[in-house]
Amino acid sequence: MKFALRADLLDFDAAPAWGRVSGVGDEGLRWRPDHWLLVDGGRIAGALPGTEAPGPDWQLIDRRGQLLTPGFIDTHVHCPQLDVIASYGSGLLDWLETYTFPAERRFSDPEVAAAGAALFLDSLLAHGTTAAVVFPTVHKVSAEALFAAAEQRGMRLIAGKVLMDRHAPDGLRDDVEGARADCEALIRRWHGRGRNAYAVTVRFAITSTREQLAMAGELLAQHPGLYMQTHVAENRDEVRWVGELFPEARSYLDVYQRHGLLGERSVLAHGIWLDADDRALLAASGAHIAFCPTSNLFLGSGLFDWQAAVDAGHRVSLASDVGGGTSLSMQRTMAEGYKVQMLRGTRISAWTALHAATRGAAEALGLDHEIGHLGAGASADLALWDWSAGGVARHRDAVARGEVPGLEKQDLHARVFAWMMLADERCLAATWVAGRPAFERVETNPR
Ligand code: GUN
Ligand code: ZN
Repeated sequence: MKFALRADLLDFDAAPAWGRVSGVGDEGLRWRPDHWLLVDGGRIAGALPGTEAPGPDWQLIDRRGQLLTPGFIDTHVHCPQLDVIASYGSGLLDWLETYTFPAERRFSDPEVAAAGAALFLDSLLAHGTTAAVVFPTVHKVSAEALFAAAEQRGMRLIAGKVLMDRHAPDGLRDDVEGARADCEALIRRWHGRGRNAYAVTVRFAITSTREQLAMAGELLAQHPGLYMQTHVAENRDEVRWVGELFPEARSYLDVYQRHGLLGERSVLAHGIWLDADDRALLAASGAHIAFCPTSNLFLGSGLFDWQAAVDAGHRVSLASDVGGGTSLSMQRTMAEGYKVQMLRGTRISAWTALHAATRGAAEALGLDHEIGHLGAGASADLALWDWSAGGVARHRDAVARGEVPGLEKQDLHARVFAWMMLADERCLAATWVAGRPAFERVETNPR
């Protein structure tokens, strides 16, 4: 169970400075080119320079020239929505009615739920994602299947049965007391078992009555340590409807605050249409926003204001939001996140994006003792990458490394930024979860 993996190690031991980059020596960045990462009993035990291989009791896996990162953390994604990814042409509310709700109904069947959970988690692993905050469906069995599949794989999963007792079609609604009983049973069975944690999962304010939101708040108050996940202020029609349904609330976010749903373990997806008071409330409560750029672009939802989040002092993580999002790849997510911020007039660094997809997400979830970095003591949740896939990216990487005559070698940030913009799951060579192999690329064509 002891092995050492030789590669270029890239992670963070603190948050990088917002909006400032130079390269090696940047705040928070931990860059250890050509090092052995030592893994013992599923945990990271340390690192050694590539020239100082550990002793004979270590299995040596020499992948020099490849890039090793912590496994990515996707803080908002929907298990049943692989069925509807890339569905043509509508905004959020119409997309939910037309594609998503019909697909989610299938997950009342235990066999569909089990197969869907297996496909979904294996797909995450095949994108280098080893931890996730996940929506299954309203059906208790879909949450059961997801927790069981995550336990089997040893993955860090945060999930919970979706609560929705109105404004959803037949076969997708629960009721307050039935949902309470299902949540209680799931919490007893799964919260803290293996690497699973339970999240009280309010789909969004539109699909829960006041009574159900109050019940969700009671669950959180009665069970310290639970997470809460939901959507907020994603789409302008949605925000308008929430205003009509909850005229007593100051804002969409205030609906959740009034029901005791905001705290340090609350993950709210999107948060595009928030105001300054909302952002102050997020900062004060410790809740954070999962920024979902591919989804926000695909569904035409809007441009998340990361700078305003930084100014207000609340955390931001990155998420795919598949099937509203168009890829499980966190590189694609980071790349689209960069472009969304450019449209807002803000240039984020590769360090900011990578941190938000790893250590920053772990910190926002209170899990940085366990995931999101390559420091000693962390779980060996690892992703090993090629620096490029395909001829154009290979050439671009050669430019960054200074191997193209007439062009100067570039700094580390330039190289990693190009990787972030051009890479995706085709670059993934292998994934480990708690030190166990969880994905290995099958080589079809020699590179
Ligand atoms: N709001 C409520 N449900 C959903 C969903 O499934 N996806 C997205 N993107 N937004 C939502
Ligand atoms: Zn979502």
